[in-house]
Amino acid sequence: MLNYVMDQIPDVDFFDCRVSTADINAIQALENAGFRFVGKEVYMARSLVQSPVPKEYGQTDCIPCPYELQTEVLELTKKTHFHNRYMYDPEVRHQDAVNVYRKYLADLGFKKEFRTMIMRNGQKLLGFIFYKYNNVLSQIVGNKYASLDFIAVNPEAQNSGVGEALNKAALFDLVRSSATHVVVRTFGSNYPAIRICQKVGFKITSSDLHFHLWVRPRAQAKHRLQFIVFTGNRPSLASTKFII
Ligand SMILES: CC(C)(COP(=O)(O)OP(=O)(O)OC[C@H]1O[C@@H](n2cnc3c(N)ncnc32)[C@H](O)[C@@H]1OP(=O)(O)O)[C@@H](O)C(=O)NCCC(=O)NCCS
Repeated sequence: MLNYVMDQIPDVDFFDCRVSTADINAIQALENAGFRFVGKEVYMARSLVQSPVPKEYGQTDCIPCPYELQTEVLELTKKTHFHNRYMYDPEVRHQDAVNVYRKYLADLGFKKEFRTMIMRNGQKLLGFIFYKYNNVLSQIVGNKYASLDFIAVNPEAQNSGVGEALNKAALFDLVRSSATHVVVRTFGSNYPAIRICQKVGFKITSSDLHFHLWVRPRAQAKHRLQFIVFTGNRPSLASTKFII
């Protein structure tokens, strides 16, 4: 089946597959097809109904991101989002792996469906969180689903409660949108991220292993990389070379 799918999509340079950690048959099928293991992601969920959000979640110093800080938010992404699976893929240049989430958020982050909270100290941006109420999933599944998508805290301000406060502010806002369930995923070795989710009531529900396969000539991979995002049915840029 794997070979069939790969044959049917001739115009793709790169495959990213994720399978359940327990699915040893699928894992070995990917390994046999030449896929490279690049990391583990954990999924967490929190019900806003069974454990209502305390009032104090609405009393943080976080505010919606003003327009003039959007560029600063994107720049912070470059400084912080380096623990990602592209770092563990030798086909991806270091600088590209550093930039990947900045490019992803520049394409998607400030679009209508996402909301952004920030925390600052005077003029200094301490951190931000992107999250969304997921209309499509909510309609399909029947509950009211939301997700926390990206969070980053300035390295100089880490470990002082900013990340936890941003999570709280986002959850409080999602309650006001009538969300009933919130999901989040992160790299399995991102202990601070897992910790701040656990502290605001998330529980780990599952984990996946991630595999990459480059199907175009190796020589090109390190020199022609473009980060392009599939957001449903069509890529956001014209020439799709890279899928995240
Ligand atoms: C994840 C992140 C947002 C956390 O922000 P933060 O402001 O440092 O978070 P807080 O200060 O509220 O809490 C950090 C918690 O992690 C714990 N922690 C920090 N480093 C840790 C480590 N190496 N191992 C285990 N726990 C760790 C801290 O002890 C603290 O928990 P505690 O309050 O129980 O002591 C921040 O580390 C970050 O920006 N990371 C880079 C971007 C990223 O990975 N984002 C998540 C993926 S979307």
